[in-house]
Amino acid sequence: MHKDIQSIVITEDEIKQKVKAAAEWLDKRFAGKDPVAISVLKGSVMFFCDLVRAMQTPVQIDFMTLSSYGSGSVSTGVPKIVMDLSTNVAGRDVILVEDIVDSGNSLVRMRDLLVGRGAASFTAVTMFDKPSRRQVDIKADYSCFEVGDEFIVGYGLDYAQRYRTLPYVGILKREIYEK
Ligand code: IMP
Ligand code: MG
Repeated sequence: MHKDIQSIVITEDEIKQKVKAAAEWLDKRFAGKDPVAISVLKGSVMFFCDLVRAMQTPVQIDFMTLSSYGSGSVSTGVPKIVMDLSTNVAGRDVILVEDIVDSGNSLVRMRDLLVGRGAASFTAVTMFDKPSRRQVDIKADYSCFEVGDEFIVGYGLDYAQRYRTLPYVGILKREIYEK
């Protein structure tokens, strides 16, 4: 285990199982269709790559970067687009892949944007859901893990751009925040 991690909350094996289930759910929903899957960077990148490869349905992929956090652990209002898609989503079935739905602001932003651009359908899949922290009324269509009001890192999730490459999800030691 990484020296800065206090405890592991979700193991690599648990992640694998949930990714498989999410891929099966998407395959049922999109059988015979031609969806485009969008990864919201950077947090969803690990989940995204595992998910699209676990799916049987062929999907196109694209990426978008939103920014709502500085280097800290508290969300700061309306997310801005830092990098936009290269795909025209008009008339397309869109699968939005998120790392975590926390306040819900990012998901609302993405939904409004993609629906506003004429997506034929919008389906949001998230690795983690923190329902206790919601500021806006939105829910992903599929969520792999519900987590409490704790700041987690690993499997794409960062603290100050670190810990994203850990293959499991953990809670940081207190002294890391208090530095
Ligand atoms: P939102 O508050 O729902 O808009 O979520 C904004 C973003 O904050 C998420 O997509 C994550 O990238 C990040 N975030 C929220 N909670 C955590 C956490 O516990 N660890 C790491 N990143 C988080
Ligand atoms: Mg995110």
